[in-house]
Amino acid sequence: MTSEDAAVPPVPQPVLTPLTASAIFLVMTMRPGAEAAVREVLAEVPALQRTVGFRVPEGRLAVVASVGSDAFDRLYAGPRPAGLHPFRPVAGDKHHAVATPGDLLFHIRARHMDQCFEVTTLLMDRLRPFVDVVDEVHGFKFFEVRDLLGFVDGTENPTGPAAEAAVTVGSEDPAFAGASYVIVQKYIHDLGAWNALDSSEQERVIGRTKLDNVELAALPPNSHVAVNTLTGPGGTQLQILRDNMPFGNVGKGEFGTYYIAYSASPAVTEAMLTRMFVGDPPGNYDRILDFSTALTGSLFFVPTTGFLENPPPAPAARASGPQPAQPPARSAESLGIGSLRGRS
Ligand code: HEM
Repeated sequence: MTSEDAAVPPVPQPVLTPLTASAIFLVMTMRPGAEAAVREVLAEVPALQRTVGFRVPEGRLAVVASVGSDAFDRLYAGPRPAGLHPFRPVAGDKHHAVATPGDLLFHIRARHMDQCFEVTTLLMDRLRPFVDVVDEVHGFKFFEVRDLLGFVDGTENPTGPAAEAAVTVGSEDPAFAGASYVIVQKYIHDLGAWNALDSSEQERVIGRTKLDNVELAALPPNSHVAVNTLTGPGGTQLQILRDNMPFGNVGKGEFGTYYIAYSASPAVTEAMLTRMFVGDPPGNYDRILDFSTALTGSLFFVPTTGFLENPPPAPAARASGPQPAQPPARSAESLGIGSLRGRS
């Protein structure tokens, strides 16, 4: 980083990208000794996005790389993000938000799946010897941005400056200004039980009308919307930025929602999860959970682009430890596109 760079505000990864029709969610764990190689690949992520994104500029390709709590300590020395910790499971009387392994999350979005698929392929060509993919979900937008329960999903997301404020770490943690946190959960729906409800009962579970997407005037206290409407100390609504995606495997009868939410502090999403799974007061849990089971749950830190490209030093113990294998073939050179690193 040069002295001029210090005056330039940190550039976030493309968290605030407009909603897209396709996405791939990749959660992986890092093998022992893979740290140096993974640092290298993470530094190349912004360039990999340019490589594939530039070929179809209107495709809106956006790649966001995030790092779990343990992985952060293995990869980077120096200060750590104030809000970073492993995902905290939430146990209600009836429903549980489980914590599952995850060192790295890649959230890859584009208007069409071809760009998501291509950039994921290039990424995995680099990462395969160093990681184990523990979950890969290919998501799609369903009619009118509906989830597979049939409701329009995402309406009350913040937009513009409110969205930026909702997801961006600021002066409360100056070393990481411009960064974010992200929580993911993979939900499977019991569509048999869900479809046994008539539409008006389904509307009471969600808290909005199904066809025309209007919030109910009388919100049941255990409806999804009522449970997830939180106000902070000043009376303002606490916001997160969701980009849920339907996914499924029709042959296996699997119908799901991949939940993903960015926030400036994980505490906001965690408060929502507590209200959903435990209830406030306890017992007033979110009725959506009677039809949706969380199979995974992980929390990640979303560094700025500058952090990824010019990371702090590796932890000393790792730097002096055994040397990891070098990144594999199909490197930038073998792709014929020169160095993938930032060219600033
Ligand atoms: C089974 C998974 C989920 C499904 C299918 C789902 C679906 C929906 C739908 C249809 C809405 C109403 C429209 C809108 O988006 O504003 C909504 C709202 C919302 N959901 Fe979810 N959601 C899921 C999980 C979650 C989780 C785990 C959280 C938080 C931890 C969450 C937080 C919210 C919030 C904050 C709102 C907006 C409330 C408002 O201000 O009106 N959702 N969700």
